[in-house]
Amino acid sequence: MSNDVVNKTRRRVLTGATTVVGAIGAVGAAVPFVGSWNPSAKAKAAGAPVQVNISKIEPGAMITVEWRGKPVYIVRRTEEALENLAKTDDLVRDPNSEEPQQPAYATNHTRSIKPEVLILLGLCTHLGCAPMFRPEVGAADLGGDIWQGGFFCPCHGSKFDLAGRVFKGVPAPINLQVPPHRYDSDSLVTIGVDQEA
Ligand code: FES
Repeated sequence: MSNDVVNKTRRRVLTGATTVVGAIGAVGAAVPFVGSWNPSAKAKAAGAPVQVNISKIEPGAMITVEWRGKPVYIVRRTEEALENLAKTDDLVRDPNSEEPQQPAYATNHTRSIKPEVLILLGLCTHLGCAPMFRPEVGAADLGGDIWQGGFFCPCHGSKFDLAGRVFKGVPAPINLQVPPHRYDSDSLVTIGVDQEA
């Protein structure tokens, strides 16, 4: 919607609110406008934590949620995927997560609190595109035998493994970021709040 249209819509809404005339038309027009200025929407955009129920994510699957206007990927890794992480240790730039792209509680081989649940910001660390989830082991277009599943950025070809660790020799310089998060229960995780030690 252009600014001009927004401004006209706003005038209509204000007129409707102060004179209580043309209520149906004004309310109809007001919904998107009021929605966009809803305090909870504003709070979310400003960074309010987001609680997610992860109980329905099947092993091997990923969901995407939004936090601070950014995509957050949540993957439930299989046992096989966890075992395969060791196979990419020599292929990635920072296998031991020595650089600070994750909170202290995710500074480990799986880059996570629970080994099976991977939580990443879905923004490529090169120029910010959304990497694609490519969990298929051995995908021919991603290196065949060396590919153990992970993420592929379609913008300039960066590759990350299933811990979000960046491969050597790609444009992205660092691992995908692990956002602050906390488990409220086995099923509920809150993105945007740190897990207490
Ligand atoms: S933005 Fe992902 S490789 Fe450039």
